[in-house]
Amino acid sequence: MTKHEQLRAHLEGLIDRELGPDERLPPERDLAEAFGVSRMTVRQALDRLERERRVYRVQGAGTFVARPPIAKTIELTSFTEDMRRRGLAPGSVLRVAELVAAGPDIGFALALSPAGEVLHLERVRTADGIPMCLEHTYLPAALVPGLTTVEGSLYAELHRRYRIRITRAEQSIRATVLDAAAAALLDAPPFSPALLVERTAFDERDRPVERAASTYRGDRYSFEIDVTTAAGPRSGAGRRAGGE
Ligand code: GLP
Repeated sequence: MTKHEQLRAHLEGLIDRELGPDERLPPERDLAEAFGVSRMTVRQALDRLERERRVYRVQGAGTFVARPPIAKTIELTSFTEDMRRRGLAPGSVLRVAELVAAGPDIGFALALSPAGEVLHLERVRTADGIPMCLEHTYLPAALVPGLTTVEGSLYAELHRRYRIRITRAEQSIRATVLDAAAAALLDAPPFSPALLVERTAFDERDRPVERAASTYRGDRYSFEIDVTTAAGPRSGAGRRAGGE
C-alpha cells in the first residue's frame, strides 16, 4: 500500500468505525505528519471524501464526519457483476472498437481536449444470451495503450491489464426510447421504452477513466436502490460493502 492509500484507509476507518456523525477528524497537519505525506496530499484525500459526502468542512474549525444521506447511493457495479447478482449469465458482443477524437462532450467528461484520442467500444450486453443493453464506452486512449478488443468484463480487463480500479462514478438514469438501430440490436420493437444510464467513472486517483452511455431495455431491467431515513441505521449509507 502506498502512503496515499494508507491515509485513505485510515480516514475511512475513522469515518466508518471510530467517529460518529459531526465528530471532528484530526487536523490536516497531524495527518500529514503521521503518514509522512504533504499537507496537499491530505487535502486531496479530504477533498475526495467531501465530494463523496462522507465528510464536510467548516472553515476555521476542521473536517467533520457527515451524517449518512437519505438515499443510499447505488452500489458501483459493472454490468458483469450486476447480472451475476441477479443470477443471470453476463455476455458481451463487441461491435465496434475504434480510436476516435473525443469531441467536446466526451472530452469534457474525461478531462481531455476535444481532439484528444479515446477508445470507443460499442457492445451489446446480454443476460443468459438475451440482449439486455447497448453500451457505448469511451476511454482515454493514453490510459489503455494496446487495447483493441474486450471479450468479457471491461472493468476486469482494466484492472488486470492496466491496474486501473474504478472506485467512484457519477451517474444519471433517465427514460428514453430505442431508435431503430438500437431496437434491432436489442431485439425489441422500435421506440420501445428504455433506460439510459450515463456514467463517468473515476479510478483510485480520481482520474476520469470512462464515459459510458448504456441503454437498457425497459422491459427487462430495473434499478434497485436501498433507502433509509436520516435517523436510520448508520450501516445504511455511505458505507463500503462489507464494512460492517
Ligand atoms: C456498467 C456501466 C458501464 C461500464 C460497464 C462495465 O454497465 N454502466 O459504464 O462500462 O458496467 O461492465 P463490464 O465490466 O461487465 O464490461
